Amino acid sequence: MRALVFARHGDPARVLRPAEVACPAPGPGQVRVRVTARPVNPSDLLFVQGRYGRRADFAPRPDGPGGGAPVAAAGFEGAGVVDALGPGTAGPPPGTRVAVAADGTWQEYVCAPAAAVLPVGEGIPLDAACQLTVNPFTAHLLLDDLALREGDSVLLTAGASAVSRMIARLARRRGLRCLAAVRRAEQVAPLEGGDAVPLPAPTGTELVERVREATEGRGVDAALDAVGGSVGGAALRSVRPGGRFVSYGLLSGRPVPVPPEALIFHRTRVSGFWLPERLERLERRGESAVRRVTEDVVAAVAAGLPGLEVAARYDLDSYALALEHAARPGRTGKVLLTG
Ligand SMILES: NC(=O)c1ccc[n+]([C@@H]2O[C@H](COP(=O)([O-])OP(=O)(O)OC[C@H]3O[C@@H](n4cnc5c(N)ncnc54)[C@H](OP(=O)(O)O)[C@@H]3O)[C@@H](O)[C@H]2O)c1
Repeated sequence: MRALVFARHGDPARVLRPAEVACPAPGPGQVRVRVTARPVNPSDLLFVQGRYGRRADFAPRPDGPGGGAPVAAAGFEGAGVVDALGPGTAGPPPGTRVAVAADGTWQEYVCAPAAAVLPVGEGIPLDAACQLTVNPFTAHLLLDDLALREGDSVLLTAGASAVSRMIARLARRRGLRCLAAVRRAEQVAPLEGGDAVPLPAPTGTELVERVREATEGRGVDAALDAVGGSVGGAALRSVRPGGRFVSYGLLSGRPVPVPPEALIFHRTRVSGFWLPERLERLERRGESAVRRVTEDVVAAVAAGLPGLEVAARYDLDSYALALEHAARPGRTGKVLLTG
């Protein structure tokens, strides 16, 4: 089967390469999925770069490139059809359309524990299903964790991102007011009249001013920051005394400056969010807690959650074009790898 693999961390455009490797056999409790669609998400790229929360587990693949040199496979999510069950696996049966969360979805077949595979009905096209396990869960759980009350306000940096647009829709349903900070004027019009108030704020200083104007000088109850750097710092300074600041992305690659005044005098509560860790905590609360969140997320996606649009599709063989497209500023929608 075809796979996109890397032998060392680095720039995905340089270190990823196509390889012909043996199709994996599903182990006990696992299912094998024939994956046909996968998004290029920021986390997939961070993982290849070696900037993610864990390093890749490079393992020799005797069938792989270089006659068994250690490689890792890229890609954290995708969608396709169950193709085989491992020993003792009860289901879902072969032929079921599924979304799958697993390491190595940027290949034709991937094996995953049955619990990491979500059957999806015909109401959810594979284009959306392949994006189901990362961003919609992130949006839902970020909001759950804030535990805000109706009428409260949330500031989103990278306000035009897929995650931000999902959060804005879910937040509106909870009666929250969302402000979406965007870095380019062209990002304002598509957001106008939608779920969040767009705030054009190319710099941190402008962001603090815009938020002050939009909240009658009070500040927002919470800020969800995917950017870091001066924008993240401004989002933190835009939070009302005693409010929450949550960092969940490193789009600028810069640290979030945290002034001690914010912690001491404003009692801003600062924390981070990482989906895999959050899902582990959810799993520890039991099957019913996982089921409840999953049902809510799948229902939101089936009801047309924004942020699942597709900018372009590229065959796995054309991954270099896909990476270049995914990095283009102003892209709306995800770049998918197909085939
Ligand atoms: N912590 C977690 O568990 C978790 C889970 C899922 C996602 N995330 C994070 O969520 C963020 C959004 O992901 P996504 O899939 O929604 O992304 P996306 O749809 O690809 O959108 C990225 C957006 O970020 C903007 N952007 C990029 N670099 C920026 C910068 N330096 N300053 C300001 N804006 C910038 C882009 O604007 P332009 O159009 O101007 O380029 C674009 O609107 C990422 O940081 C991702 O890693 C985190």
